[in-house]
Amino acid sequence: MTPFRIRGKTISLPIVQGGMGIGVSLAPLAGEVARLGGVGTVSSAALEDLLTLREGRPFTTFEAAAHEVKAAKELAAGGYVAVNVMCAAATTYEDSVRGAVAGGVDAVVSGAGLPTDLPFILADAPDVALIPIVSSVRALRVLVKLWRRRGATRLADAVVVEGPLAGGHLGFRAEEIGDEANRLENLLPPILEYVRSGLGDIPVIAAGGVYTRDDIDRFLTMGCSAVQLGTRFLCTVESSASPEFKQAILDTTTEDIELAEPASPCGYPFRVTRRSPREGRAHSANPCRYKYLIDSDGRCKANLEPERYACLCSALLSAGGALEAEGGLYSTGANGWRVDHVMSVRDVLLDLGFEPASAAESGPDRLRADDSGRAA
Ligand SMILES: Cc1cc2nc3c(=O)[nH]c(=O)nc-3n(C[C@H](O)[C@H](O)[C@H](O)COP(=O)(O)O)c2cc1C
Repeated sequence: MTPFRIRGKTISLPIVQGGMGIGVSLAPLAGEVARLGGVGTVSSAALEDLLTLREGRPFTTFEAAAHEVKAAKELAAGGYVAVNVMCAAATTYEDSVRGAVAGGVDAVVSGAGLPTDLPFILADAPDVALIPIVSSVRALRVLVKLWRRRGATRLADAVVVEGPLAGGHLGFRAEEIGDEANRLENLLPPILEYVRSGLGDIPVIAAGGVYTRDDIDRFLTMGCSAVQLGTRFLCTVESSASPEFKQAILDTTTEDIELAEPASPCGYPFRVTRRSPREGRAHSANPCRYKYLIDSDGRCKANLEPERYACLCSALLSAGGALEAEGGLYSTGANGWRVDHVMSVRDVLLDLGFEPASAAESGPDRLRADDSGRAA
């Protein structure tokens, strides 16, 4: 298997574990995937509240991101650790990025909106890779044009292309999810072409519904350098999803998976299992208290139009085991019904036909700068 490189650093397996909030992909999962040779991703979503509740002392957004990334890097023993920061979490966005950088993160992966400010926030962090998540070539074009117009001195170091089968917030309108044109296989070719002609020789990473080794090989053959997997890692031993969340996914059938109704306050569709305590309904008796997913005027749509939008913050914090009383809402990709037992990350990688990096390969020098000596 050919290793791939992001901003001069080499990753031995073509596997990126996608960021999963709230409280699913924390240090244990990200650190283990990274230790075994893939990219491990810490989710920054609501980390400050999770850590404050769990550790019994207050954490700022910056401290929480730095803390969790540092813990993941320690577990990774020289492996590649990214942080996922959602654009929709606008009020905490910059502090999450800066905290992760302070914690020693290798890359910032950012979607659920367009990461228009990221090149500027990372301008003084040349070793940290910048990775947008997009769901169309149009979105990528708009983003790059905007970065260039604003005088960005750096652009993307890799691009994640996320199709409509993914877990988490989706970059499509609900009615577009089933469109043939939006299948990941059909989204990729124009993006691969645009990246090659406009952004250079950087990895394109396919995400959303990638589940088997055949899926992986198909996307690598199309020209992707790696795939990003979420649902496949959701019920691993190392995942921080609560035992109830994992059990609900194991019990989930195809009929149980649906889009959350009412929708997320940031407007993006969001797949859930009816096996959640809230039976797939995002309705919250409380108006939004946390305000992670507010609009540019600082308002949560769940407070303004409760029939159409529901506060996801407390429901997802509950899924992460932090607010039991609220009742959790469990998110999954379209393949959630295929997960039938809890496995270790190592066994997932073996099941996919990959040889995890051995302990001998692990170590602080496993991430090498490229020949120019530039780790950037
Ligand atoms: C439970 C869950 C939570 C997720 N949370 C986030 C998130 O906070 N931010 C994000 O960009 N993507 C999120 N995702 C998307 C994953 O990072 C990944 O891209 C996607 O799940 C890939 O599709 P798959 O689940 O079919 O493998 C989430 C996915 C799941 C299953």
